[in-house]
Amino acid sequence: MIKRFLSSTATVPETTQVPRHIAIIMDGNGRWAKKRLMPRVAGHAQGVERVRDVVEACIRRGVGYLTLFAFSSENWRRPQDEVSRLMELFVMALEREVERMADNGVRLKVVGDLSRFEPRLRELITQGEARTAANTRLTVTVCANYGGRWDILNAMNAWRREHPDATEIGEAELAPYLSMAYAPEPDLFIRTGGEQRVSNFLLWQLAYSELYFTDTLWPDFDAKALDQAITSYRKRERRFGRTSEQLLER
Ligand code: FPP
Repeated sequence: MIKRFLSSTATVPETTQVPRHIAIIMDGNGRWAKKRLMPRVAGHAQGVERVRDVVEACIRRGVGYLTLFAFSSENWRRPQDEVSRLMELFVMALEREVERMADNGVRLKVVGDLSRFEPRLRELITQGEARTAANTRLTVTVCANYGGRWDILNAMNAWRREHPDATEIGEAELAPYLSMAYAPEPDLFIRTGGEQRVSNFLLWQLAYSELYFTDTLWPDFDAKALDQAITSYRKRERRFGRTSEQLLER
């Protein structure tokens, strides 16, 4: 049975000192490489190393869910060579990291429209998810060929297929059909690389997330940088549309 999490638009979810769920747009790999006169893919390769560090840091700090935007629906428009090299990197990362994840209590999930990926990559994803399915320490979700609008439309269409005669849908009915229904909504959203936008990431789920933007390029984002983001998050007052006084009354 899927556990239902509280909706941030319907209730005031519990706020904890350590964010339960952190979602990250890992931006700046290309610029990191360019600054060093290296090919863009070298930045992505370095980015994989930071993924490992941040996963370990999240385990140590007791974060329950880490969600990473690895490849957007729009990234297919990049030069063919870069797309192919990114796919190779995903394959290599899965081949190398799944055992380590399994040993460290990490559950791996990959969400997005995976139909466009090569069979080998899809197979590794299925195996990786199965191998780590029973783990509960940290759930790492990789969003691949993912788009927030795709997610909402996909959920709508799935709901419609199961309720052909219904005319209206409410938030609580739609939420279980979203691709990350197994996770609470992100408490903290981080975007590295200096841009300040959401770029069609988790559009529904970010409704009341705290947003944190940093100029640090993803290949430079380490455990210390993660701590700075968490420190900033702790200083925020999360009101979920209420007043400060109302929150004190709870
Ligand atoms: C954005 O930087 C980054 C990407 C499109 C790819 C992110 C992928 C990884 C970090 C690799 C692996 C991930 C996993 C989960 C194994 P950019 O290329 O847009 O950088 P730029 O803005 O400087 O050009």
